[in-house]
Amino acid sequence: MIPVICIDGPSGVGKGTLSRHLAQKLGWHLLDSGAIYRALGLAALEQGILPDPNPDVAALEELARALPLQFREEGGQTRVFLQDRDISVALRSPLAGQLASQVAALSPVRNALLERQRHFRQAPGLVADGRDMGTVVFPDAPLKVFLTASVEERAQRRLKQLQEQGDSASLRAVEAEIAERDRRDRERSVAPLLPAADARILDSSGQSVAETFRVLEGWVHDTFGELIF
Ligand code: DC
Repeated sequence: MIPVICIDGPSGVGKGTLSRHLAQKLGWHLLDSGAIYRALGLAALEQGILPDPNPDVAALEELARALPLQFREEGGQTRVFLQDRDISVALRSPLAGQLASQVAALSPVRNALLERQRHFRQAPGLVADGRDMGTVVFPDAPLKVFLTASVEERAQRRLKQLQEQGDSASLRAVEAEIAERDRRDRERSVAPLLPAADARILDSSGQSVAETFRVLEGWVHDTFGELIF
């Protein structure tokens, strides 16, 4: 069985960075499942299915199955293509995030994306980054990590990002937005954001990326043995 390491958790917790480092260090494949939801959201926008408060779920499901999405490794970076168009930059936009969160709340869409995500499980191994990697997509993964950080810490990081992009926002407003999104994610009926029963919880509050990565590496050693790196 090809090994999988699941890294789940809320947004703004640093999953992407840790998952990328780990996949690079192990020489394994990487699944950025959020990018799939984002690409689907953008494609639905282009096809006029979104925005819509009551979107055509059957159309979204069909689009999810047929989405001509490709991840290509170029110069140590992953670029995402829709058909032959590079959508890597557009994927990171707040709009793509909002559209993704709308399509991600629909269970027929989540089901339609399951096989696509499972295809990433290729030798020698996979690091899977998302919300439901350990609970739904790869329930048999030998190592499941649920990454958390305090609302304050995630708000600080988000504020810094916004400032770097030239946006202004107050820390309080960003904190309130994150707390509200956490509540929605935990309480939604479809794939709520919760750790798998057998996940190990990694709280990165007050830790540098390097410190968090060391803890993660320790768990990888415990699970797969010293020889893996
Ligand atoms: O991690 P991200 O910000 O790229 O995720 C974008 C959206 O997709 C976010 O609303 C959560 C959702 N998502 C999900 O529901 N399940 C996943 N496995 C990954 C992302």
